[in-house]
Amino acid sequence: SKIYVPLDSSAVAMGADAVAEKIEAITGIAPIRNGSRGMAWLEPLVEVETPEGRVAYGPVTADDIEGLIRDGMMEGRAHALCHGLTDEIPFLKLQERLTFARCGITDPLSVEDYAAHGGLEGIQKAIGMSAEAICEEVMTSGLRGRGGAAFPAGIKWNTVRGADADQKYIVCNADEGDSGTFADRMIMEGDPLLLVEGMVIAGLGVGATKGYIYLRSEYPVAKRLLAAAIDRAYWKGLLGDDVLGSGKAFHLELFMGAGAYICGEETSLLESLEGKRGQVRAKPPIPALEGLNGKPTLVHNVISLCAVPTILAKGGAYYRDLGMGRSTGTMPFQIAGNVAHGGLVEKAFGVTLGELVNDFGGGTRSGRPVRAAQVGGPLGAYIPVGKFDMPMDYETFGKIGAGVGHGGIVVFDDTADMAAQAKYAFDFCAHESCGKCTPCRIGAVRGSEVMAKVIAGEDVDTNLELIEDLLEVMEDGSLCAMGGMTPVPVKSVLEYFPEAVGRGQKDIS
Ligand code: NAI
Ligand code: SF4
Repeated sequence: SKIYVPLDSSAVAMGADAVAEKIEAITGIAPIRNGSRGMAWLEPLVEVETPEGRVAYGPVTADDIEGLIRDGMMEGRAHALCHGLTDEIPFLKLQERLTFARCGITDPLSVEDYAAHGGLEGIQKAIGMSAEAICEEVMTSGLRGRGGAAFPAGIKWNTVRGADADQKYIVCNADEGDSGTFADRMIMEGDPLLLVEGMVIAGLGVGATKGYIYLRSEYPVAKRLLAAAIDRAYWKGLLGDDVLGSGKAFHLELFMGAGAYICGEETSLLESLEGKRGQVRAKPPIPALEGLNGKPTLVHNVISLCAVPTILAKGGAYYRDLGMGRSTGTMPFQIAGNVAHGGLVEKAFGVTLGELVNDFGGGTRSGRPVRAAQVGGPLGAYIPVGKFDMPMDYETFGKIGAGVGHGGIVVFDDTADMAAQAKYAFDFCAHESCGKCTPCRIGAVRGSEVMAKVIAGEDVDTNLELIEDLLEVMEDGSLCAMGGMTPVPVKSVLEYFPEAVGRGQKDIS
């Protein structure tokens, strides 16, 4: 029977390679190295194919293997580590997986397996469509940029398509730097051909013949998988001078970043891709008109591009009808931090923060009450438990000065020091600032110093006033979202956890 052991970084970090070796040594069967199903707390998750479906065992260590095999794991028999049919595990069963539909199911590098599970349907449709019709489908879907800014993708595509130039580019931003986020990595390791397909469709849609994936250097497994996926895509004619017999060309290259958070900002990323120091460029001009090498460039996050094959295959209207309001489709939420069941949950927008943290996540790992969840990365707001009934929707979050961002959720229990978290926002900004503008370069350092005084109880009211002034300057005067959004977590602490900064009021959480 077939047996699966993930090659995903989260599984490998927990010993998946040794598990796979042990299984092969005992049974002589080489496990298929698939992506992760996204249930991080069960990694390494071993799956065995049975007539009823795949049966899950986890978390499995190499030392468990002998006993598991003796007790009938290869036949899918019950065991203390057995969770029954994988697809019936509530964490998975209650999801709406579109982008991650194949992740953890297929062999990530098999084009045949990819096609057998619905892959290539989007590109096949796109090949028979005009560039205008492809962009129209994306417009209809209501897809918004999944990197964090949520800009309408259709508008961006039409801007690049309408620009007149001898060369246009597709650039995939795979510099996933937000704390608590791993959706980009998981899909690149588990279903890299999906990203390739999404980029080729984007090329056909906007008239670009060349694409780059800008991948962070901290992702060696993704690097290996993407490089191999690109090779196979060339081999199978999905990339090259004549994409699947369409007569249209699309070439794709992988480019490695060098570890700077700011290179996830699109203009720094383009500078870095051009071989320069990763520093922010002023906008306008927007990259859609003057991007890589000064040419019109469609810059998108991994997940935005990975949503495209589904949109083409099932139609923009299908995608648009999921979600709520202007937040259409699904979002891969990533639950991390102090949480019992960390992992990836792809759901239509509208699921509440509480459902994600408590129902999917199972509350804190420490067993203590939840105090807050930081949503949208290190520059996202700390949301108190009192607001956990908020639906995950761009507009609802925007109304309270927060953001959904890239969908990362980091959970904290009641021992969390919220004042220290506020200081951390400044420290993070000071560390990662590219240094181009003063509010961010100097403001972050001063903010950290003043916050230290607040924590030490020195002139709290005066120093908090100073902080509030500084936040206004950073928000209004910074050139990019790094300095511009550092105030978000700080303000959320001041507003929802005033007691933590010595304002003497009760938590309203
Ligand atoms: P932005 O709002 O300036 O731009 C969003 C996108 O829309 C860009 O690609 C921009 O070029 C494009 N755009 C804007 N106006 C346009 C127009 N008129 N026509 C065509 N395209 C247009 O936001 P930015 O600075 O790119 O991103 C900020 C976000 O990044 C934050 O909200 C944060 O959540 C997120 N972020 C994500 C990280 C991650 O690891 N995924 C890390 C850090 C921040
Ligand atoms: Fe650079 Fe910070 Fe200014 Fe952005 S806000 S351009 S990161 S100094």
